[in-house]
Amino acid sequence: MSKWKTAITFNTKEESYIRGYPLTEMIGSLSFTESIFLVLKGELPTDHERKMLDAIFTSVVDHGVAPPSVVGMRHILSGGNELHVGVAAGILAFGRYHGGALEDAMRIFQESLASSDDLRTAARELAEKVAKGDLRLAGFGHKYYKEFDPRSRKLLSLAREYGFFGKHCEFATLLEEEIERVKGKRLVMNVDGAIASITSDMGFDYRLGKGFFIIGRIAGLVAHAFEELTTEKPFRRLDEERDIEYTGFPPRPLAIDEKD
Ligand SMILES: CC(C)(COP(=O)(O)OP(=O)(O)OC[C@H]1O[C@@H](n2cnc3c(N)ncnc32)[C@H](O)[C@@H]1OP(=O)(O)O)[C@@H](O)C(=O)NCCC(=O)NCCS
Repeated sequence: MSKWKTAITFNTKEESYIRGYPLTEMIGSLSFTESIFLVLKGELPTDHERKMLDAIFTSVVDHGVAPPSVVGMRHILSGGNELHVGVAAGILAFGRYHGGALEDAMRIFQESLASSDDLRTAARELAEKVAKGDLRLAGFGHKYYKEFDPRSRKLLSLAREYGFFGKHCEFATLLEEEIERVKGKRLVMNVDGAIASITSDMGFDYRLGKGFFIIGRIAGLVAHAFEELTTEKPFRRLDEERDIEYTGFPPRPLAIDEKD
């Protein structure tokens, strides 16, 4: 059998080396965010990279009970499962509309800018597809925020401060403007869109996109799982009268032909 290859970590009996750095030296010296940057990118972050990535993780650490991942995981735990099952279930709820939008947005931003230097025209072309209903553009629109997503504003202002407001951030900002102009309706740049543009300007590959959301949100999922397990009764169930509207056949007789 050929050897498994990895460039991330190797172990000896005395030490583990993460991207070449001794883990026992990292412990107590590096922050969690610096260590995450190191495993993902292979090098230690600059001061600004650390601050930016730290802000990104903080911006998605939790967003309440309402999102699909928390509702889903709380139901699954209420069926009688353990913390890790709930957390895994929450992560499984991340898809193209929740959490996973970050990766799709990174891909669209990176591919658009790889094929065009004219950001305004590229933004207008995408906005026209959105307006026609031909494209559901990841990173824009929100169920709750209709005027602006406060997390995106804060992250983009930090991106300016730390030197990561590059062409991807500019493109995402132009997209928000062009969609409003062409569609006549505001679709806010949501936190996935802001993180997607900033991480693209930081030089991350779009295929890491879901990872940023998972790493940041997993702390919130653990907190919700613990709260569900320790403060709620088992077996969450919808109320038949209050929560459910039946839309199928009315009651009808089961007429079975009796054949010999
Ligand atoms: C998050 C999302 C599901 C919210 O949807 P929503 O609350 O139904 O959105 P709205 O009711 O405000 O939609 C209004 C209109 O904009 C459209 N729209 C909303 N988000 C859109 C998007 N990202 N791209 C294209 N059209 C969009 C809707 O289809 C609707 O069109 P209509 O008025 O012609 O019928 C939706 O915006 C979306 O799919 N966004 C992309 C995925 C994403 O970024 N998810 C991360 C959320 S943090």
